[in-house]
Amino acid sequence: MATQTKQAHAYPGEYRSAPTAHAALKDWLAAHPDHELRHPHPFDVSRSDIYLEDRWQPIFAEMRAKGPLHYVDESPFRPHWNVVSHKAIAHVEALPDIFSSSWEHGGITILDRADDVAPGEEFELPMFIAMDRPEHTAQRRTVSPAFTPTEMKRLEGDIRQRTGALLDSLPMGEQFDWVEKVSIELTTQMLAILFDFPWEDRHLLTFWSDWAGDTEIATVRELDQQRQEILREMGGYFAQLWADRSNKEPGQDLISMMLHSDSMKAMPPQEFIGNLVLLIVGGNDTTRNTMSGIIHEFHRFPDQRKAFEEDASLIPNAVQECIRFQTPLAHMRRTATEDTELFGETIKAGDKLVLWYLSANRDEEVFDDPDRLDITRENARRHLAFGYGIHRCVGARLAELQLRVLLEEMHERCLRAQVTGEVERTRANFVHGFRKLEVTLEKF
Ligand code: HEM
Repeated sequence: MATQTKQAHAYPGEYRSAPTAHAALKDWLAAHPDHELRHPHPFDVSRSDIYLEDRWQPIFAEMRAKGPLHYVDESPFRPHWNVVSHKAIAHVEALPDIFSSSWEHGGITILDRADDVAPGEEFELPMFIAMDRPEHTAQRRTVSPAFTPTEMKRLEGDIRQRTGALLDSLPMGEQFDWVEKVSIELTTQMLAILFDFPWEDRHLLTFWSDWAGDTEIATVRELDQQRQEILREMGGYFAQLWADRSNKEPGQDLISMMLHSDSMKAMPPQEFIGNLVLLIVGGNDTTRNTMSGIIHEFHRFPDQRKAFEEDASLIPNAVQECIRFQTPLAHMRRTATEDTELFGETIKAGDKLVLWYLSANRDEEVFDDPDRLDITRENARRHLAFGYGIHRCVGARLAELQLRVLLEEMHERCLRAQVTGEVERTRANFVHGFRKLEVTLEKF
């Protein structure tokens, strides 16, 4: 895996105001000529250093002030439209026939298939997140029964018991890494339970889903190669699991449910495995990074932590607000299937549109004082962190349940996590989160 870079954390007071951000970015680029070569456009927000260094906020604010869409003609990720307002992103996602998610058109992230991959060399697993209607509808239907309110009720006891046990095992008054000991452990355990994944191998889930989480890689070509290697490895492991599970009595786990459902029986193994991989990657570092984000933001906004400590009834809304604030997937991508007009701009068939959820969730047209965490915010639920429309996250209820239980169990134990050590963020323009968050626990 890529090596990690340690980076001092920047606090909101250090952000520059939107009108000066453009100039500030230009200064920064002047001091970093290598980056200038690779990202010459000041609104090329595909550059991962702005997420690593947590200084993306004023850049997006300036873009929003100028308009909902910005075309970047030169970028390592090839020309693309950046869609930055809440309204424009919801609009694009509400028109899935014009703005496609399908892999054939370009897929769901800013990263294209590398130009120089020879035909037949690339390895792709079909996943319904990268399909359009009608295939998407049929495949999504096979997994959505695993995420109904009734299923969530069934899982809640187990999640609560494991969360409580983990919290009870943590050292008091001693510094440790929250990402490693809590966020990774809880989300990995959860997926292992959901899939009845071999317990002793559960840490592979974390390793596999990290390919998108740290992109300190020299070229887009290398990034794509790494992605393909990991997909191959995951594909092989799941093919074996699928074969083993087919010969057993159906259990209550998601693999058995999928394997024995009528609609899935007709599915080719490659597609079945692709969808399993999707559920694992989708549910892993997204929820994990929100678990770290909550602790980080409570530390930055101690009045909000106090409000939580004094009133447990705020927890459900706090979960929504923390998801809005963290936005663990910075973007999704669509590709235009026809020429069309969008908010006064002419979009050509084949154009790539990058939907920056990170920006939508700080849109001052929708959220008052958007760079402030406010767990009593009335419209926190309007965040777009789970996307919008037919592809809206199928695992949203499970993620919300895990986060709510974590806060409830911390409240129950009067546990407060103070950030006392290093904070290290991911160098990535897709997964938005933390590599390390050193904390010390105390009682409130
Ligand atoms: C789709 C975010 C947790 C499984 C998505 C999308 C986003 C997202 C942005 C794409 C929406 C779009 O294209 O419009 C998140 C966040 C999570 C989270 C922020 C946690 C805080 C989970 C969990 C699972 C999961 C726990 C499953 C265990 C999926 C799947 C899709 C998806 C299967 C594809 C849905 C489709 O294409 O119809 N998620 N996710 N996610 N997510 Fe999540």
